[in-house]
Amino acid sequence: MTSTSGIPQDLVERLGHASNIIVFTGAGVSAESGVPTFRGQDGLWQKYDAEDLATWQAFERDPQLVWSWYDQRRQMISEVDPNPGHAAIARMAAVFDKVTVITQNVDGLHLRAGSKDIVELHGSIWRARCTRELTVYDFHECPLEENPPLCKECGALLRPDVVWYGEPLPMDAYERSHEAACTCDAMLVVGTSAQVRPAATLPLVAKHNGAFVVEVNTHYTPISALIDATLIGMAGEILPELLDRVDESMGHSEEAPGTTGGVKERSGV
Ligand code: OAD
Repeated sequence: MTSTSGIPQDLVERLGHASNIIVFTGAGVSAESGVPTFRGQDGLWQKYDAEDLATWQAFERDPQLVWSWYDQRRQMISEVDPNPGHAAIARMAAVFDKVTVITQNVDGLHLRAGSKDIVELHGSIWRARCTRELTVYDFHECPLEENPPLCKECGALLRPDVVWYGEPLPMDAYERSHEAACTCDAMLVVGTSAQVRPAATLPLVAKHNGAFVVEVNTHYTPISALIDATLIGMAGEILPELLDRVDESMGHSEEAPGTTGGVKERSGV
């Protein structure tokens, strides 16, 4: 059965039987807050060359340039708010027994929306790491007082505590994510082009281990054909309705569902 909004009822009920769920997010979940994505027409990698700004070599060559770019992004992110997609994800903790948010985003918006169990696979733009001692600091100075910023303890250069191209993911974050993907009942894959490995393999790990995997994206992606269903539309519209409907199917809520537009089912569940 398919509802008038296009989210199939059997998909809702299948999610309603899950108790241990992962929400795996990418830049698309923050797009409706006004944070640019990386790929696609207005993506950051259309305007900038990742080689010049998001590699260790670029930082060694010109730390001031790299920090200027991160300073601009930090200022932009500090001026936006979490959107209804982030809020719905935070609300999931009240509906499912266990919710793990695994994000590729460095913007900190899941935390600001109130999600608790968050794995930041690509680090955080709100932390800095000493390049000599590798100590990680919360770092909210915005705009920067000095560029490049220096470690208050030892005077060495600080770098953003994010994963750059060619760098491995933080071992503990990846191990936690992989373990969670192997043991979850369901995974929602939200707003990621699923092109950057190893993060992009997590939905397939979950699927391989028997989880029900549903994607929410404005477009189909390379993993769409390999998972259970794709809901086409904006995360900030689909997730609140999906959550209300799952909650209702579990008998937690008497509220009527809201509506969304343009949601298309890709495959049966
Ligand atoms: P991308 O920019 O590659 O993909 C964003 C995805 O979000 C696309 O598939 C869009 O179709 C989708 N999208 C856009 N707006 C949406 C909306 N309102 N609702 C739902 N979906 C929407 O971003 P990521 O997949 O996150 O890595 O990129 C992965 C990594 O590549 C990033 O973490 C970053 C980048 O290089 C590092 O910096 C290490």
